[in-house]
Amino acid sequence: MGVSIPFCDLRRQYLSIKGEIDQAVARVLNRGWFILGEEVSAFEEEFAAYCGAAYGVGVGSGTEALHLALLACGVEPGDEVITVPNTAVATVAAIELAGATPLFVDIDPVTYNMDISQVEEKITPRTKVLLPVHLYGQATDLGPLLSLAERYGLTVVEDAAQAHGTTYKGRRLPQGDVGCFSFYPTKNLGAYGDGGMVVTDEARIAERVRLLRQYGWEKRYISSIRGLNSRLDELQAAILRVKLKHLDEWNEARRRWAGLYNELLTGSEVVRPQESSYGEHVYYLYVIRSQQRDELRQFLAQKGISTLIHYPLPIHLMEAYSGLGYGPGSFPQAEEHCLQVLSLPLYPEITEQEVGMVAQSIKEFRHE
Ligand SMILES: Cc1ncc(COP(=O)(O)O)c(C=O)c1O
Repeated sequence: MGVSIPFCDLRRQYLSIKGEIDQAVARVLNRGWFILGEEVSAFEEEFAAYCGAAYGVGVGSGTEALHLALLACGVEPGDEVITVPNTAVATVAAIELAGATPLFVDIDPVTYNMDISQVEEKITPRTKVLLPVHLYGQATDLGPLLSLAERYGLTVVEDAAQAHGTTYKGRRLPQGDVGCFSFYPTKNLGAYGDGGMVVTDEARIAERVRLLRQYGWEKRYISSIRGLNSRLDELQAAILRVKLKHLDEWNEARRRWAGLYNELLTGSEVVRPQESSYGEHVYYLYVIRSQQRDELRQFLAQKGISTLIHYPLPIHLMEAYSGLGYGPGSFPQAEEHCLQVLSLPLYPEITEQEVGMVAQSIKEFRHE
């Protein structure tokens, strides 16, 4: 029988904490209260404290966290939000849900995050928010971005969907006005369903998101503003509370596996991820670059090794977003990036043998 190395195996993690999870789920079921209750409140406090922030507001997904954070920051139709084109579609979908127009800047070819040196020239009188995406688990260079925001009176909303526990200059994210997290099951801190959170130090923003996530209700059934339904549920919050206690140990494991990949891939023709000097990467994804990415991916698939591409097409070249008026060549770094990147299997419970087999296969590809 051939090998089979999955890209991710969430069952392994469940089995490693089964007792704690089953107990948490039973606690919620026995209580009989499922939406916005004590588990959500406790998790909001615990996760905000983990991030070093004052407030957390649980919502239905990472997309909704971005959407509601933008609304809470006063984004209105016609406003512009500056972000990057090599991100999950969700980032841009959220900007448009808030009625704003996304403006893109190209990425830094080493960290794959927003190239801060290109941001200032994009700012117009309609620009309201700078929205960096901490891609793959590594922080954007926030220092110069925050200075720019201050100089122009802009708000910084961070897409931290891939960055639970990531640090920038020794402190966990977010460090702008708001951080938006996703608890999609594969994330470093993942639920067993959808979930998200808005994290901030600003009471006004937290309060606004609290209203927005539940029909704008000031009191039950009475809306003071127009809102919608985007709530984190009690079961997910109870599960996330258990998993939060393990997050640091899991992030450490991810960093160890990334270190092993780095070591084993030394001398191969692929480009390994580079960790910036200003922060700690939490390796939501371990992403290499190869000039023969598609052939390499196929070669690995034949050996039973699953890989993914994050992301195969930059947003500005997608049909859905052709109306934004960009085209091929608009963002050369992001476009090249999408053609070359390949995400390898990496999660806390992967084994040394599996990492070894993936690295070995990549090295064999060079010799074919
Ligand atoms: C960078 C980024 N932004 C936003 C999202 C959206 O999160 P969700 O899937 O929870 O809506 C994701 C996750 O898929 C993501 O990776």
